Amino acid sequence: MRDLRHFLDIDRLDKATIRSILDQAAVYKNSKAGKGEPLKGKTIVLIFEKPSTRTRVSFEVGMMQLGGNVVVLSERDSQLGRGETPADTARVLSRYADMIMIRTDSHQKLLDLAKFATVPVINGLTDDSHPCQIMADIQTFEEHRGGIEGKIVTWVGDGNNVAASWLHAAVKLNFEFRIATPPELKFDQNLLDWAEREGGTVKSFTDAQKAVAGCHCVVADTWVSMGDDGERAKRLDLLAPYQVNANLMAGAKSDAIFMHCLPAHRGEEVTDDVIDGPQSVIWDEAENRLHAQKAVMAWCLGVA
Ligand code: CP
Ligand code: NVA
Repeated sequence: MRDLRHFLDIDRLDKATIRSILDQAAVYKNSKAGKGEPLKGKTIVLIFEKPSTRTRVSFEVGMMQLGGNVVVLSERDSQLGRGETPADTARVLSRYADMIMIRTDSHQKLLDLAKFATVPVINGLTDDSHPCQIMADIQTFEEHRGGIEGKIVTWVGDGNNVAASWLHAAVKLNFEFRIATPPELKFDQNLLDWAEREGGTVKSFTDAQKAVAGCHCVVADTWVSMGDDGERAKRLDLLAPYQVNANLMAGAKSDAIFMHCLPAHRGEEVTDDVIDGPQSVIWDEAENRLHAQKAVMAWCLGVA
């Protein structure tokens, strides 16, 4: 069997592959050459075991724009949600479809699906990572500020799945990634160790003001990720000093941009004046999910 091109995490890809996907994303967004239907006759199954607005719609619209077909399964109406194993699900779906995307809780479920599928599997978010988001985020950064290599991106708040994929990208694409989190919600030490072994520049802070000093981009995300609702009160309390507001943005470079994967919890991790302000690029970031994922799907099927 040929080697399958799964899109599981950015740390599994080499720099040239990441760059080629980003280049293709720009073609899909900006060029007439990107208006064809290279996935005509192909089908993707989208499995959602967690809610989604952007990922669901951008994958669905993206696949249709590429000429392909989409089947969406939610936890409620799939047997995976009732205990059928990821392995059996993967074997069956591979007989019907050309690609599988899954949004789920356990990262192991994604890995099991990929192990037993005979078609490419795409990570649409797990508790551990969100690589499609970061492909769109890199595209967005580079549209606004040029090449990301050597730049400084500061994550402020909970060191979650989205932060993990930023860290992977920083190591692979050679930019500095800073992360400011409360001491009680320490960032995953395994990820920090991996970054160090790989020669990446990743720095941990507990003081958000120090972390943003001189940075080119400030990134926030919800303080309560899907699955963390039981800890909501505790998290709101611990993360209150990590709100991205005008005062914090003033400590970054004067032309720093603000990014957020959305959905935002206005008044919690970010204030209205920042997310709606001139430094915010969140709508381009959301749009780029469409272009970046079209490039991911095309790469998975070897047509780009
Ligand atoms: N950013 C993101 O993945 O959004 P959704 O949860 O709406 O898909
Ligand atoms: N960290 C968030 C991202 C949502 C797109 C979550 O996992 O809920």
